[in-house]
Amino acid sequence: MTDPVSVDYFSDAAVAQDPYEYWRTLRDRNPVFREPHHDVVVVTGYQEVNEAFRNSDAFSACISIGGPFPPLPFTPAGDDITAQIEEHRHLFPINEHMVTMDPPDHTRTRALLAKLLTPKRLKENEEYMWEQADRQFDEFLAAGRCEFLGDYAKPFATLVIADLLGVPDSDRHLFRRTLAGTAPGSRVGALDHEPVGLNPLQWLEDTFGGYIEERRRSPRADILSVLASTTWPDGSAPEIIDLVRPATFLFAAGQETVTKLLSSAVKILGEYPHYQDLLREDRSLIGGFVEEALRFESPTKVDFRLTRTSTRLGGVDIPAGTVVMLCIGAANRDPRKFEHPDEFHPDRRNAREHIAFGRGIHTCAGAPLARVEGQVTLNRMLDRLGDIGIDATRHGDATERRFGYEPTFLLRGLRDLHITFAPVTATEAGAAR
Ligand code: HEM
Repeated sequence: MTDPVSVDYFSDAAVAQDPYEYWRTLRDRNPVFREPHHDVVVVTGYQEVNEAFRNSDAFSACISIGGPFPPLPFTPAGDDITAQIEEHRHLFPINEHMVTMDPPDHTRTRALLAKLLTPKRLKENEEYMWEQADRQFDEFLAAGRCEFLGDYAKPFATLVIADLLGVPDSDRHLFRRTLAGTAPGSRVGALDHEPVGLNPLQWLEDTFGGYIEERRRSPRADILSVLASTTWPDGSAPEIIDLVRPATFLFAAGQETVTKLLSSAVKILGEYPHYQDLLREDRSLIGGFVEEALRFESPTKVDFRLTRTSTRLGGVDIPAGTVVMLCIGAANRDPRKFEHPDEFHPDRRNAREHIAFGRGIHTCAGAPLARVEGQVTLNRMLDRLGDIGIDATRHGDATERRFGYEPTFLLRGLRDLHITFAPVTATEAGAAR
């Protein structure tokens, strides 16, 4: 590859399509490497990324999504910039969402979310997933082909979160249309230099604000009423917006990422049909397959931190006020951690040690949900879709495939995935099980 120093990760079109060689070259030079274009310290080693994620004292999450964009609203001074960060916190993009917060605000807000993501709620949500997967396959099954992201993954991921939050049945079609539509601007998600959450999310905030207000006036036996009556640890009632934000953020955090996981897993199934046979025969292998898909094509490519204090990582001194890019997708292909990291092995012994969901206090709150979404989708897909293949009319034949990836520095995922298959009706599938 050309000298990585000459490549601007944030704008290079080829690196957006395939970041792995760039990261490999950089890691070979140093797993902690300062790139010259935006003065960002790029961390590509598994151990080093892990260490930074876990050290929330030295690494602030205030820039977790935007990284070097926009530039810091102040000029860092000295070996501890905590006071500067706090003074300017309101100027950081999406500072109102937990993913950019540091303790103690982060701890308080995340505790609110824990009230929603209870084991009982997740169990009920899983039951919904099984039914919803079937309903969606029914929509396009007879055609024998589909565009997997638009026809299945996006609406599925959106509706699963709507169900989790207890959105009334009668409103779900609005969520599907508004959040999982294919018209430009209809998605909540990451586009080039427009990271997750920078979109106003106004529609969601208004809708959920309405639900919470209504449930505070007249509580019902539903999850929105549980959310509406949640209190801070001192017993005081949060403002409505403090309840609305953790709820609405789930759509930003869980829609695009899950879509990317599902589509990368299905692409592998389509490319390597023997995995379909393997998984159909032994469904217990599906869990490991999903973990390996998370490792192999980590949907969140990178996360950012700002060094709050001068610190040392992987033997490299990093001054306070440095933008650090934690390359999750690179860490998950670090050969010091994963043997033959560029090969997909569904039975990989340590696949589950990937860090696709981050680590430390910001570890993905939706990880259990995302895993189950992957497992339910693959299970039902193997029941309902026979002979899954990549549509050669759209992606080229097996010797010269063409896949396009979203040109964003933040997420790794296909733009579209056209597949073909032999339909199996729900009754036939039921009989086969
Ligand atoms: C395959 C799918 C997913 C991936 C790869 C993923 C990845 C991540 C990562 C890497 C973080 C850490 C961010 C950081 O440290 O800066 C994160 C945080 C988060 N994720 Fe996920 N996520 C996924 C699905 C979901 C889903 C389905 C939900 C909820 C419905 C969700 C909710 C969240 C929330 C609320 C946070 C913020 C946690 C905090 O700041 O404490 N994610 N996710």
